[in-house]
Amino acid sequence: MINLKTPPMGWNTWNTFGVDINEELIRSSADAICASGLKDAGYEYIIIDDGWSEKKRDANGRLQADKNKFPSGMKALADYIHSKGLKFGMYSCCGTMTCESYPGSFGFEQEDAETFASWDVDYLKYDHCFKPVSVPSELCYRRMGLALANSGRDILFAACSWGVNKTPEWIASTGADTWRSGNDIRDNWQSVAQIYKDNIPLQKYNMQGCFIDMDMLTVGMNGKGFVGLGGCNEEEYFSQFALWAMLSSPLIIGCDVRNVDETSLKLMTNKDVIAINQDPACRQPFKINENIWARHLDNGDIALLAINETDNELWAPFIAFADLGIEGKKLEMTDLRTGENFTLEDGSCDPMPCFRGLAPHASKMFRCRIIG
Ligand code: GLA
Repeated sequence: MINLKTPPMGWNTWNTFGVDINEELIRSSADAICASGLKDAGYEYIIIDDGWSEKKRDANGRLQADKNKFPSGMKALADYIHSKGLKFGMYSCCGTMTCESYPGSFGFEQEDAETFASWDVDYLKYDHCFKPVSVPSELCYRRMGLALANSGRDILFAACSWGVNKTPEWIASTGADTWRSGNDIRDNWQSVAQIYKDNIPLQKYNMQGCFIDMDMLTVGMNGKGFVGLGGCNEEEYFSQFALWAMLSSPLIIGCDVRNVDETSLKLMTNKDVIAINQDPACRQPFKINENIWARHLDNGDIALLAINETDNELWAPFIAFADLGIEGKKLEMTDLRTGENFTLEDGSCDPMPCFRGLAPHASKMFRCRIIG
């Protein structure tokens, strides 16, 4: 655990590649993250998900990398990733096997934490498949949390127990830096909207040191890849990104970063939206009405996000300044997607012209400064 101050950002193999992974894919994706500007935008963890190991441990009970997929071994891959100024993430599971039936860490927590540390791993995603029924989830996660704390290396502990067995109530005690709150994302609006809805009541548990992980982004998948079921349109991808940013979820890209389209790249490198996600204060957002979230930022600004969850156009959702505690004030607002600036006064007869005509599933995100 590393006492995280802001949500982690990176890329993970799972959404697009499933278990069809190898060292060339990882290296070329790390290269692409640097060349495309994603690294400069803040994405730093390169995370190998399920399917990286041999199906059996070695004679000493140690996990071993699949010799065909990763012939140079994990330490060499870590060195490559670190040489690019990036960080290295890996995956294991709290049960006897991973979700794809590779060896799990149950009963081997200390050995595996030592192995990951010896490979210079910086991040461990820790899944919840094949957990022995008699052992409570919290115990499994505490065991690995303790093992990582004693591994001699600072390793971000990314718990992935899908929010089950009352995860929010015990997860902070395990030393987890982030925790997955629900089921696996799919690349379509229905899945994104469901994850968003399920996370609304959980926001009170989301805070520095132990961030809620709403799962990897599907932005840029465009229906391709392992979870690419249907794809989202451009508005829906913006909404996904803006929601993940506003609700302080990790921003872990799941598309093929070597072949990402311009629109998605521009969206995922939008520094103003990322700045909301990475705001140093990490305050919890709050809803001021059915469609609009607000969040107090570190410098006194207010972030606003209007989301249209319906299948119809949404006409000018109303914001009462009183709901923000700023009656009689004036706001200077920047639309974080278009860069457009305008001023809005409390009491103007057209209270939120900026939110007019929001397309189905679309969002608008603003940074607002109180100017008088
Ligand atoms: C679970 C996790 C996913 C992914 C797969 C790998 O389903 O929730 O994010 O890691 O396992 O098998």
